[in-house]
Amino acid sequence: MLSAGPLRRLGARAVALDEVDSTNGYLLERAAALHDGTIVCAEYQTAGRGRQGRKWLAPRGAAVMLSVLLHEPSDSPLLSGAALMAALAAAEAIEQVSTCSPGVRWPNDLVMQGRKLAGVLAESKPLPPEVRVGGRAIVIGIGINCLQHQGHFPVELIDRATSLEIQSAQAINRVEVAAALVASLDQVLVEALATPEAWSMHVQRWRDRCSDIGSRTTLEADGRRLTGTILDITEEGDLLVEVDQGGRQHFAAATTTRLW
Ligand code: BTN
Repeated sequence: MLSAGPLRRLGARAVALDEVDSTNGYLLERAAALHDGTIVCAEYQTAGRGRQGRKWLAPRGAAVMLSVLLHEPSDSPLLSGAALMAALAAAEAIEQVSTCSPGVRWPNDLVMQGRKLAGVLAESKPLPPEVRVGGRAIVIGIGINCLQHQGHFPVELIDRATSLEIQSAQAINRVEVAAALVASLDQVLVEALATPEAWSMHVQRWRDRCSDIGSRTTLEADGRRLTGTILDITEEGDLLVEVDQGGRQHFAAATTTRLW
């Protein structure tokens, strides 16, 4: 029901909730008890989480709000690169069910015409040894704005957010969006994790959708505000910037806020 095709890693268990605080929170709290590949989706989140403690808001029934749980080794490339892979999978899924071809914006946004269409939040915590010695639970949460009209967005986001309904020339079926997302995420995760070369190819697919490379940016990292030119996104998912104040520097998504 929740997938557009046969799945290899995701979906042995799936939970559909009418309401929850956060689908990411739900899986993180139960990370040791639930199976690898568990999917949870919700019609409404009372405390939807965005990056860096921000809220993620969507009216009931308007967005795809979905998280998946992975049990991974502690050196998994997903620990730093999960948001890139999920954004790539979401963009490819959206192309299958709408006329939209979203771009990606480091570290975790999908964009259409410069406005945010979807966001990814990846969180992790250690697993107890009885579940997986040295393992980590990684929860990847994806929110895709589907049916909102411009007036549904909070005032402060009204000029910066968009939805598939606004952008697509084709009618949007939210269940189809969710099913395509699950199938695409399953495929990207299985294929990208297979070999280091496959991982690199997927990072390149993400880069191909990113129009930021070569553009100017302002960042806040470790309490400092920096400006510079974006040179690349590394295999680990870091932003590589030629900083005006001097030198090339790597910025990790977890500790960096992109101001523009
Ligand atoms: C961001 O843009 O800052 C990330 C937004 C992530 C939102 C999704 S909705 C499903 C999952 N559950 C959450 O609480 N957050 C993510």
